[in-house]
Amino acid sequence: MQLPDYKEARKRSSEEIKKEYYTFNQEFINIGLNKTYFIKTYGCQMNEHDSENIKAMLEQLGFVEKENYEEADLVILNTCSIRENAHNKAFGFLGRLKHIKTEKNKDLLIGLCGCMAQEEKVVEEIMKKYKYVDFVFGTHNINRLPYILANTLKSHKQEIEVYSKEGNIVEGMPTKRANKFKAYVNIMYGCDKFCTYCIVPYTRGKQRSRDKDDIIKEVNDLVKKGYKEVTLLGQNVNAYGKDFDYKYNMENLLEDVSKTGIARVRFMTSHPWDFTDGMIDVIKKYPNIMPSIHLPVQSGSSKVLKLMGRRYTKEEYIKLFDKIKTIPNVTVSTDIIVGFPSETEEDFQETLDLVNYCKFDNAFSFIFSPREGTPAAKLKNETTEEEKEQRLQILNKILNKYFLESNKKMVGKIVDVLVDGLSDKKGLLSGYTDTNKLINFKGDSSKIGEIVKVEVTDAKTWSLDGEQR
Ligand code: 5AD
Ligand code: SF4
Repeated sequence: MQLPDYKEARKRSSEEIKKEYYTFNQEFINIGLNKTYFIKTYGCQMNEHDSENIKAMLEQLGFVEKENYEEADLVILNTCSIRENAHNKAFGFLGRLKHIKTEKNKDLLIGLCGCMAQEEKVVEEIMKKYKYVDFVFGTHNINRLPYILANTLKSHKQEIEVYSKEGNIVEGMPTKRANKFKAYVNIMYGCDKFCTYCIVPYTRGKQRSRDKDDIIKEVNDLVKKGYKEVTLLGQNVNAYGKDFDYKYNMENLLEDVSKTGIARVRFMTSHPWDFTDGMIDVIKKYPNIMPSIHLPVQSGSSKVLKLMGRRYTKEEYIKLFDKIKTIPNVTVSTDIIVGFPSETEEDFQETLDLVNYCKFDNAFSFIFSPREGTPAAKLKNETTEEEKEQRLQILNKILNKYFLESNKKMVGKIVDVLVDGLSDKKGLLSGYTDTNKLINFKGDSSKIGEIVKVEVTDAKTWSLDGEQR
């Protein structure tokens, strides 16, 4: 048994990060024979991609994926810690599984992994109150899943294997990609920014960049398989390469990934601190790097930004925003937190002022959620829950106005769309424009997975309508 330890997770050692290769132990080949699995994924794209690795490992063991968790022999929850509601949702789902295990299927195997597995309190609670959970593993040892499963089946006891210190970079993990033409590619793990509200540096460890050659090889392989789009993933992609002892950064990587010839390159998430002018030049130079940037601002008040440990002022953010806006046709999206400790009405007004200036094309807005173990969780917060809710509503109304405005500007234009598949709306297709806008359109369904020209005929707040040309 190996339990998470926050003190250990907070540390940043100068120890060199080693690279190892995933090997499949033939001893486990029949563990999943005639058994089915279901994975429930919460949170960000990083988690979604981890689930793609987990699925492939399970299939190497013989498990077959089931669409319905109620019929599966093994259910794994890949969890998120970012806000309390993600937490609550996962515990709620565990409750439903308990019901199935006690009423219908006493052999049901239940596993929990992801960011919540890295939290001391969560694991304590699982050991005390959720004894029906069979195994827990963390974000640093996903590759150990076959061993953990084998141990669980052998011991019939709750297996907990969570490392608090980040492990090696594991190359060559198998992947069952959810999509045949769009792929996530990790370029780095962890984060060293330690924004005061954020739990990620504790749950995902020290920043570790993947070797550029491994990334380029992965993208080249995807191109050969016919993939049209890659999204380069990391908690703070602009800091890519800062942990190398040679000079190679995000600017260089973007350029090299673009040169693989893949039709579309996206990347997320960017922290304004590390966004260089060189990156902007590269995005302008290569048409296959998509003109859509996610640039979380979090707050428009320099006082609050300082307390958040964001390392930029409102003015500095705006300066960077203006530079990014020189990229032709670019769209910019953001994340905003309201109700951070000490945020006054004036501070909130400054956030609205910033939104009115930037007129974001898309945004995610949240109420601050104190995460145990982070510095901001200890700050006094005098804003009432009602006030926070009210601020969120006011903010959303203004954000939505600008989303619609941005979409309306597209009407009449012909845009490039990567066709995802059939839309929820009957008889239509859906996909994303190069600027990352969702569009539902009349078109030829044989073009799924291809980039087509679509004329925008109408605009809604969260999507466009169109017709293929
Ligand atoms: N409370 C609310 N929102 C948070 N985020 C991160 N941590 C918290 C928290 N404790 C938001 C930030 C981040 C996005 C992924 O989630 O806006 O950019
Ligand atoms: Fe992803 Fe962060 Fe949530 Fe973990 S806590 S799943 S890294 S968003």
